[in-house]
Amino acid sequence: MQSARIIGIGTYLPDRRLTNRDLEGMVETSDEWITTRTGIRERRLAERGEATSHLAHRAGLAALADAGVEPADVDLLLVGTSSPDMVFPSTAALTQTLLGLGCPAYDVMAACTSFVYALHTGTTAIESGRARTVLVIGADALTRHVDFDDRATCVLFGDGAGAVVLQAADEPGVLGIDLGADGTGADMLRIPAGGSAMPCTEERVREGQHYLRMAGNEVFKFAVRVIPKTAERALAQSGLTTDDVTWLIPHQANQRILDTVADRMGMPHDRVVSTIELTGNTSAASIPLAMGDLYTSGNLRPGDVLALVGFGAGLTWGAAVVRWTKEVR
Ligand code: UT7
Repeated sequence: MQSARIIGIGTYLPDRRLTNRDLEGMVETSDEWITTRTGIRERRLAERGEATSHLAHRAGLAALADAGVEPADVDLLLVGTSSPDMVFPSTAALTQTLLGLGCPAYDVMAACTSFVYALHTGTTAIESGRARTVLVIGADALTRHVDFDDRATCVLFGDGAGAVVLQAADEPGVLGIDLGADGTGADMLRIPAGGSAMPCTEERVREGQHYLRMAGNEVFKFAVRVIPKTAERALAQSGLTTDDVTWLIPHQANQRILDTVADRMGMPHDRVVSTIELTGNTSAASIPLAMGDLYTSGNLRPGDVLALVGFGAGLTWGAAVVRWTKEVR
């Protein structure tokens, strides 16, 4: 059986910055509260006219260039997102055209876990022999769904995209993946209106039902419970333990979640990758953005073991254990 390994990474953040100081002028909040409760100092916002497919395009292009892969050689495009450009066509179809690809393309929607879910789909396609080269993108513009009058959520989110190129190899790259879902927790984090259950009407928009709503405390408790468990299951599949992990790369939702998880897993804090200070929570983009940061900083070495861990609305969660095989940049 062929294995899937990562041969390229690309990232993209829009230029527009929204700082905690800016937010102080918009809602009843403070830089001090946001920094101490979340670790976030600023986040990026997609420009006017810039949709999720545009973010995905930029990250995808960078990943293909980094991998040295031509568009014609991509067999499958997967876009993990929960802020699609529109209900349909899929964001993947729109991104495929922007990238000039000719391959099948579809979205994978599992909220902030979308990238790990998409990585699973891409890995499975390669292992089954149905694809040789797969472009996996995590992209979200969740600030388009945020209520900028709701201080409990508007300080958290930012926009961005990250991508990896997966390719068939004899040498194992993606070693193990654990995924999970529990729809009984659907009410904890959702955008109620705009789908088939609750189409947008004037009244619902007036009530703000088209905005993201979250029981932050409940999601926090779920996150710190599920991250160690799903990571341990993916590591066990790979024949590894926490001690073998070089870099833990969790979904970037809150610095306090990262610190709590590091303590619970007995990982030194400097082995847990954190980019949240300058990006906020970029949903499906956060894991590949953090990987990209590690990569461009020159800290990824061949042989390193990465544990990528996502969690989010659904509820959904998932972990992928990856052995890094690409030479240092
Ligand atoms: O991507 C996946 C999903 N997202 C997450 O994983 C987020 C997980 N949750 C969290 O990160 C945290 O729960 C939050 C950052 C959302 C909230 O932090 P918290 O420490 O759980 O605060 P809290 O909700 O318990 O609120 C504490 C207080 C409340 O005031 P009272 O009732 O104690 O007077 C809030 O109204 O903080 C208040 N508060 C704020 N104050 C200033 C909530 N948001 C703000 C704010 N500025 N932006």
